[in-house]
Amino acid sequence: MKRVVPGLLAAALLAASPASAEVRGVVRLDQPGARVNPDVHGQFMEQLGSGITGGIWVGEGSEIPNTRGFRNDVVGALKALEVPVVRWPGGCYADTYHWRDGIGARAARPVTLNRWWGNSPEDNAFGTHEFFDFAELIGAKTYLSLNMGSGTPAEAAQWVEYITSDGGSTLAQARRANGRERPWKIDYLGLGNEPWGCGGRMRASYYTDLMRQYAGFVATPGTVTVAAGPNAEDYDWTRTLMRDGRESFDQLSLHYYTLPTGDWARKGASIGFDVAEWSATFDQAYRIEAMIRGHDAVMDEYDPEGRVGLAVDEWGAWYDPTPGTVAGHLQQQNSLRDALLAAVHFNIFHRHADRVRMSNIAQMVNVLQALILTDGGRMTLTPTYHAFMMYKPFRNAAVLPVTLEADEGDRVDVTAARGDDGVVHFALVNLDPTRPTTVRLALEGGRPGRLSGQVLTGPRIDTHNTFSDPGAVAPAAFRDMRMQGDVLVVSLPARSLVVVRAG
Ligand code: AHR
Repeated sequence: MKRVVPGLLAAALLAASPASAEVRGVVRLDQPGARVNPDVHGQFMEQLGSGITGGIWVGEGSEIPNTRGFRNDVVGALKALEVPVVRWPGGCYADTYHWRDGIGARAARPVTLNRWWGNSPEDNAFGTHEFFDFAELIGAKTYLSLNMGSGTPAEAAQWVEYITSDGGSTLAQARRANGRERPWKIDYLGLGNEPWGCGGRMRASYYTDLMRQYAGFVATPGTVTVAAGPNAEDYDWTRTLMRDGRESFDQLSLHYYTLPTGDWARKGASIGFDVAEWSATFDQAYRIEAMIRGHDAVMDEYDPEGRVGLAVDEWGAWYDPTPGTVAGHLQQQNSLRDALLAAVHFNIFHRHADRVRMSNIAQMVNVLQALILTDGGRMTLTPTYHAFMMYKPFRNAAVLPVTLEADEGDRVDVTAARGDDGVVHFALVNLDPTRPTTVRLALEGGRPGRLSGQVLTGPRIDTHNTFSDPGAVAPAAFRDMRMQGDVLVVSLPARSLVVVRAG
């Protein structure tokens, strides 16, 4: 039986199926909707394992080539990606972070213990100046998370003043004495992190009041404030915040991690998994679309004009750590599955572009679903990095309506968007681990231009890049598409992401 759904076709992957499948759909080229906010392709970096120390920051004296202490290879890769926004210092770490530990002469900074992440010693060499310098170096907007768990409103307000004040206050002078004359811009300011968990074990009503108190002391014109929103499906949390606190923030965060098994005690391996676990991973990933719809509906009740955005400021795959690594350092391998998982998330965020205004994958380097892995002086780009690259043309483009029609067993996800230059991009994901799928899209309300494309796939469901084989998963030119009258026909390889440019 055929079903018609917007964008995504989801069904059991393991159903008995022929050797290849066909999916039909319609794309309305003349009905542009909300624009994809570029910040939806943002990232998150936390003081955690080698996410920053070693992965981004090696210090000026390092033998690893660096610029003011930031490794050149990683900075180069991030510049090429044009990272729109980066969130720091946490995560759970933010709620134990006292900013004064991370300013002034590095040799004099205290060594603290990273309570949440292996109790590892933290030398605080990467602090406020290093974060803003790094963001400037890669050209990203800044997203700063305030400590509402173990800090105070005064400490938070003083941090904001230290960073942003142009006047003659003692804090502004201290910043200048520490080497930065001009103030920096805080583009996004996070009001706490996971207050329902590591950020203070608060109830929604308590957090809402506290958030209102903090907002009163730290909100700054030109800075987008982000309240710490729900964990996954906690709609009551969203309701309480929207009902009693919505005047105090501009965006509400949402955290959701994909665990293949759905079980925190045994999440599943990052490589070496079977087809059943591949399938389960995407079942878990798609839960976020229902969550976004659910939170959006609650937000609509209090904010029907859509002033408040949703910021999915932590998302991605969370697997069991790589054997032999420190469990609290959250190091995992990154395979083709992760690239398609990122693609699916982007398609979902694009479908809800009217509400989802920012997202930050967890995390940028060496931690969880990383875009980049390093080991000493070596670096490799992960399949996830390549997916981010392939989606760059969607930034700022207007989302076009897509409807698909398919049989049970098909699993294809398609989004389309049109840029200001009139060029239309299609992102097509085939989650079937073994079957190629032909997608036939009737393009209504316009004529597409010349076609070109890129594909990301691999010989196995867990193909991944290593330091000795960094090109195992990499984008390649794609030509398996054509126009048949007004129908765009794309032949997707099994387990692939294809981005088609028409224009
Ligand atoms: O990204 C790792 C951790 O996951 C973050 O520190 C925390 O906010 C979340 O629970």
